Amino acid sequence: MAFIVQAASTQWIAILITCVLSLVFVATYRLLFHPLAALPGPKLAAISPWWQIRKIIVAKPYELALHDRYGPVVRTAPNEVVCNSKEAFDAIYKSSTPLDKGPWYEGTRLSSGVLDLFIRRHHIDGCHLLAETDMARYQLIRRSGGPAFTASNLKRYEPKVVEAMQRVCERLNRLNGEEVETSEWMHITILECLTSISWSGSPDNILEQGHDWGDLELNVAFWRRTTVLGHLPTLRVLLDLFPMLKKYAFGILGLPTNHSRDGIGLPAHIAPSLIGQLVHRCTSIENPSFENGQDLMEQLLAIHAKRPDFGVGYARGMAGSSVAAGHDTTGASLVSILCRICTNPDLQKRVEQECRGERMPLAFEDRPSTVTSACVREAMRLQHVTNISLSRVAPRNGLHLHGHFFPEGTVLGVNPTSFARNRDLFGPDAGEFKPERWLSGDENHLRTLERYNLLFGGQSRSCPGQNLARLIIGLVVPRLFRNFDIQVKVPEGGFDNYPPQFWTMLSGSKIKFIPRQDSK
Ligand code: HEM
Repeated sequence: MAFIVQAASTQWIAILITCVLSLVFVATYRLLFHPLAALPGPKLAAISPWWQIRKIIVAKPYELALHDRYGPVVRTAPNEVVCNSKEAFDAIYKSSTPLDKGPWYEGTRLSSGVLDLFIRRHHIDGCHLLAETDMARYQLIRRSGGPAFTASNLKRYEPKVVEAMQRVCERLNRLNGEEVETSEWMHITILECLTSISWSGSPDNILEQGHDWGDLELNVAFWRRTTVLGHLPTLRVLLDLFPMLKKYAFGILGLPTNHSRDGIGLPAHIAPSLIGQLVHRCTSIENPSFENGQDLMEQLLAIHAKRPDFGVGYARGMAGSSVAAGHDTTGASLVSILCRICTNPDLQKRVEQECRGERMPLAFEDRPSTVTSACVREAMRLQHVTNISLSRVAPRNGLHLHGHFFPEGTVLGVNPTSFARNRDLFGPDAGEFKPERWLSGDENHLRTLERYNLLFGGQSRSCPGQNLARLIIGLVVPRLFRNFDIQVKVPEGGFDNYPPQFWTMLSGSKIKFIPRQDSK
């Protein structure tokens, strides 16, 4: 008996020693012999992806400080680097052959697809551009649906935003200056505009009830989880196979379990009614017209009628994702814009003067010409909705950058929020809210700022909804300042406490919309 016990314990000790030696071997290889070994960065990050994952879980912004300490190229995981320079931007996002998206994006798929017996994932055909890896399908959807999302086409929807804003302002009037959540009311506002443009709908009475069930704030929790799981592909597969493990896994990782979204990215509380409206609109259009289309759904169906390979599913998917991908991004941008302007009294006065003049100012311009549009651009610069590296993969022959060689498969990217505070681009005051930098009149400098910018992503996979967001923000901001005296409270440290995750927002601010007597 004693012999058996001794043999078993010797076996366990051997297993333990093998495990420890393997770990030491892997760590030594990653630190000293890996192709990225010579790169600067925290030693722990070179050894294990957990260094990076931990930063996301504790929700502390870290990438800007990393570049201050280690320079423009930093190794943040064994096979990943994050960059912050014009050179890196050009190499990663402006390459003549677009680089593939990094493996992290797989975790953003709305449906986990089907796993076969060999645990290989098979995705169903659909419209989910963010994580799409089938470039033939991606190009088909982007090129065919593209005409509906051009700035000139979207201009036809201005009256819809104006109408939606009449409803919103009338409702805000009835708040009588009561203090409310900024995120909640900007979310409600955006949902009114987006559903109207996308399928001539309206989101189930939320304007009247004045409640989004905390959805936009909860979205922060949703994206923290998604950002972490994107870095843990094996765990994701395991949770797909055994969903009952989710609550334990999230508990152990310290991740939030509360929900803000349904499976297709819409706000969970109103998703069924939004989907109902979308499906009803899609099936009730008989002879869709692009030229006279009443909404995006009709225009996209008209494209389908001409190009059957652009299937109805894609048309419906694109109309649906205008709300699904636009409600949080555009809502969060509006929160930042109002918070930044209204915590700078002198600027707020100038914005009010412009918005209350004879003509409403243009509020969203790539090359700002008004104080209002300079404030909008500056607020969106400092508070990007994406605050992790937009990762891409080094191509077949590798990539040379900053004197280093990155072999095929290395994951590289630039974090939009850090890049937008790059001092080579924006000067020593890059971290300060200074809208006047956009009105300097220095053509060369402004051209550079226009070129080196990740506000709507990198060139080959840029945001298809950017013109839609521009249209809505451009009309909503002046309307609010024209109709209301706005007061905002941002929690202490709020602007800097911006969690490092794919989608993020300024949390916890409060707002008062005090109706103006002479507003038109
Ligand atoms: C102010 C509002 C918005 C901002 C700041 C924004 C920002 C971005 C950024 C930075 C990306 C690139 C992500 C990456 O490379 O990983 C992106 C992609 C995307 N955006 Fe937006 N977005 C906004 C509004 C919208 C709207 C209204 C739509 C609705 C159509 C939309 C749909 C998408 C989609 C489908 C992608 C994925 C594109 C791809 O991977 O090729 N976005 N957005």
